[in-house]
Amino acid sequence: MLNAPDTAPAQGPRHVAIIMDGNGRWAQARGRPRLFGHHAGARRVREVVEACPGLGVKYLTVFAFSTENWKRTQAEVAGLMSLFRRYIVKETRTLKENGIRVRFIGDRVRLDSKLTALMDTLEEETKDNDLVHLTVALNYGGRDEVARATKRLARDVAEGRLRAEDVDEETLPKYLDTHVLPDPDLVIRTSGEARISNFLLWQSAYAEYEFIDTLWPDFTAAELERLCHSYGSRDRRFGAVPA
Ligand code: FPP
Repeated sequence: MLNAPDTAPAQGPRHVAIIMDGNGRWAQARGRPRLFGHHAGARRVREVVEACPGLGVKYLTVFAFSTENWKRTQAEVAGLMSLFRRYIVKETRTLKENGIRVRFIGDRVRLDSKLTALMDTLEEETKDNDLVHLTVALNYGGRDEVARATKRLARDVAEGRLRAEDVDEETLPKYLDTHVLPDPDLVIRTSGEARISNFLLWQSAYAEYEFIDTLWPDFTAAELERLCHSYGSRDRRFGAVPA
């Protein structure tokens, strides 16, 4: 059962995006292989999704695999891909029954067809849900996303569906993978690194950031609640002068 909406801050973030970092270090600190940390990290995703309704978070976007993560060892990449497949198979029913709508962003071309078929099914199975919109970034890179969007936009111009002079900052996001999502209000990165690592570059232009020391497998719903409340006390001016 998902949390009742009773701990939601009055001005909390509607869209939270998370760079889930620190799985490897968490595992290494326990003398275990890196994949052990990724499995522990995957379990945290469920806890965080379940906390969202109670905190008034309608959109949650998590960075699961970046376009740069292919540079890891073949064993780690294969282990992560297998984890994603198993996670989808295992969680589909719960996600569907708990009102979670799942979407994937990123370039699917390099992903294996067994995984993309599972991703398609999960998106289809949960498409009528609206309690929480969970977006999983898989083979995702912000620059890659903007490049792919620009390619599609250029094709529309070349083929006469769009006029170059009509392209403005409202136009480009319609071509991004996230075109149906609002921009993130709060971006959290765990594990003490203060970088955005190519995550939601366009979309996070006005987001608030939280860089916290907790390693992702240690992240809890209570920590998310604390960060949502802290966000609620910030003054977001979007470049304007306070009234
Ligand atoms: C970064 O930690 C984490 C990843 C590259 C993988 C993230 C994947 C998960 C949390 C698991 C599954 C997610 C879903 C949605 C099923 P790192 O390996 O870079 O850690 P390190 O910086 O300590 O080495």
